[in-house]
Amino acid sequence: MKGIILAGGLGTRLRPLTFITNKHLLPVYDKPMVYYPIRTLVQAGVTEIMIVTGGPHCGHFMRVLKNGEEWGITHLEYAYQETEGGISHALSLAESFADEGPVTVILGDNTTDADISLAVKSFDKGARIFLKKVPDPHRFGVPVFDKKDPSKVVEIIEKPKNPVNNFAVVGLYIFDRTVFDRIRKLKPSARGELEVTDLNNSYIADGQLKSAELKGFWSDAGTFESLFRSNEFWAKKALEKSA
Ligand code: DAU
Repeated sequence: MKGIILAGGLGTRLRPLTFITNKHLLPVYDKPMVYYPIRTLVQAGVTEIMIVTGGPHCGHFMRVLKNGEEWGITHLEYAYQETEGGISHALSLAESFADEGPVTVILGDNTTDADISLAVKSFDKGARIFLKKVPDPHRFGVPVFDKKDPSKVVEIIEKPKNPVNNFAVVGLYIFDRTVFDRIRKLKPSARGELEVTDLNNSYIADGQLKSAELKGFWSDAGTFESLFRSNEFWAKKALEKSA
């Protein structure tokens, strides 16, 4: 299984910090943000990684990660996203890297201490998504569950005004090789992006999406509040370990 970290976009919600560097290189306690998604992949045995990035500071990634060895990466590639075309657009740039195999995809501003090894090893086909209870589901993709079978997701709604429950679809996905053909069929959303939620909904429409609740801590770090929350968690964890 290969891994893809999506780290494009301009990080406008974290300005003025993102005038300094790429959002995914900002500090989360004592590491650059992108270290955490790398760690999640490497701990699950996914060590061949592509980072899709963009914007004016993309060269900083090389300065920080070099060839990735220090981080447990055995093969590191980069792709450059010229526009902020959305998460599915960023993923489409990894098609040749994926080489017709399944891929584990993580958003570069998501951090978790969950162990996804089993999900990666047991992945068979379709799409696998992960859910987490959050206090602010309107900021995320929100799953709608089947009334008869609450373990089944029947639709995902992106940033609903009135969320039907407190679950968020986290920015961690496993997709089979059909993902790139599915992206080709997507249409831009009202905000002009190829949405990951539309991609997941295409798997749902074919009965090919499975979901599981993510165990442990998870947060994005793309707003000042969530960046602070992530810093707080990882600082506490590191300090506990060193005590
Ligand atoms: O964090 C989980 C949420 O991430 C999901 O629940 C949502 O369904 C999903 O749409 C996404 O929502 P956000 O509004 O938080 O996405 P954002 O635009 O902040 O992008 C998240 C990351 O995706 C970003 O850190 C880098 C990558 N990205 C995003 C865009 C728009 C790209 O690589 N290229 C892009 O064009």
